[in-house]
Amino acid sequence: MAVLDQLTSQQAIDLENKYGAHNYHPLPVVLSKGEGVYVWDVEGKKYYDFLSAYSAVNQGHCHPKIVDAMTQQAKTLSLTSRAFYNDMLGRYEKFATEFFGFDKLLPMNTGAEAVETALKICRKWAYEVKGIEENKAEIIVCENNFHGRTTTIISFSNDPVARKNFGPYTNGFIKIEYDNLKALEEALERNKNVAGFLVEPIQGEAGVYVPSEGYLATAKALCKKHNVLFIADEVQTGIARTGRLLAVDHENVKPDVLILGKALSGGAYPVSAVLANDAIMNVIHPGNHGSTYGGNPIASAVAIAALEVVVDEKLAENSEKLGQIFRSELTEFAKTNDLITLVRGKGLLNAIVINDNEESETAWNICLKLRDNGLLAKPTHGNIIRFAPPLVMNKEQLHDCISIIKKTIIEYSV
Ligand SMILES: Cc1ncc(COP(=O)(O)O)c(C=O)c1O
Repeated sequence: MAVLDQLTSQQAIDLENKYGAHNYHPLPVVLSKGEGVYVWDVEGKKYYDFLSAYSAVNQGHCHPKIVDAMTQQAKTLSLTSRAFYNDMLGRYEKFATEFFGFDKLLPMNTGAEAVETALKICRKWAYEVKGIEENKAEIIVCENNFHGRTTTIISFSNDPVARKNFGPYTNGFIKIEYDNLKALEEALERNKNVAGFLVEPIQGEAGVYVPSEGYLATAKALCKKHNVLFIADEVQTGIARTGRLLAVDHENVKPDVLILGKALSGGAYPVSAVLANDAIMNVIHPGNHGSTYGGNPIASAVAIAALEVVVDEKLAENSEKLGQIFRSELTEFAKTNDLITLVRGKGLLNAIVINDNEESETAWNICLKLRDNGLLAKPTHGNIIRFAPPLVMNKEQLHDCISIIKKTIIEYSV
């Protein structure tokens, strides 16, 4: 078989199994094309994408404006490294800082790198601005968090599969219950060396866990009172996914440090960023941090286009509107079906909780049936399925998807 011969699904799966590390457990479907809310498998079957590459493809697959920006820039200048200036990075930094309302941006590539960057900035700020004794800084994080896969980040994960046999772990983190303001207040009062509070405005990987109303605003106020940086990881929830540009906007909260990734490029290219004001970001000096690809001209051009699409196509408004329809239709449906116990989410980041235990295979088996019926989604746990379509979806397509989901659950229930 020549490398570029057309493959069947089974051949593609066999190749990955034999030659790739087994660090994922994909749903058995092999995709070869995407456009807007749709993807096609190698046999030509069409599906609704209801995962959007974990909320990276908010602007829809192969958005023409983003693809144009990328190809134009790829033909002009792709990578200089930060050893030299390039004529795109500054433009992107100006655009993005004005867009999100911060003084400065630090460009990286993946979400995990951006989280690492935020943690480093927070620690350096703690020693050089707040005045914490060297090596004593602590950062408060939440139980059931998901911030990525680096050694430091998994050090404060409580997912045993993500952690086991990857030690020794990085110190300096205090873990508290998510959505528990009392726990946050106690942790802040008990420890004088707290530098930051790292939080997902909605816990996506934990199963689209939406905190109580007011949680983020009060948490931010508590951080302010204790001179602690409120660090929002909006890698999954940001860029219109939850019905606002940022999920923190639901509570009018301005983070001290904002972490973005995924949809910052609309799924076209790995682009992530940390944003903060000068009083924080100015702790970073030449040599402190960097990345060969971070801030490259293609990433800069792609990110500007991706953010423009969010505004031009009113994606936050669409996400808010369609999300309400989705939740109300499925909540009604859940009353008639014992298999769904709960529907939750914000905007077009939603999940259904299935009447089974976390270790069961029920959610996986339902996802297989959804696939057969033309819709691709993925469980976050044995009993939770996340539903996060591209935000360019229209009402008619959404109703079609709701019908597929209801039909599949009914078929599964009998
Ligand atoms: C909240 C959050 N932070 C960080 C990450 C890590 O991003 P990446 O996979 O690009 O490293 C993710 C990925 O799902 C995420 O959901």
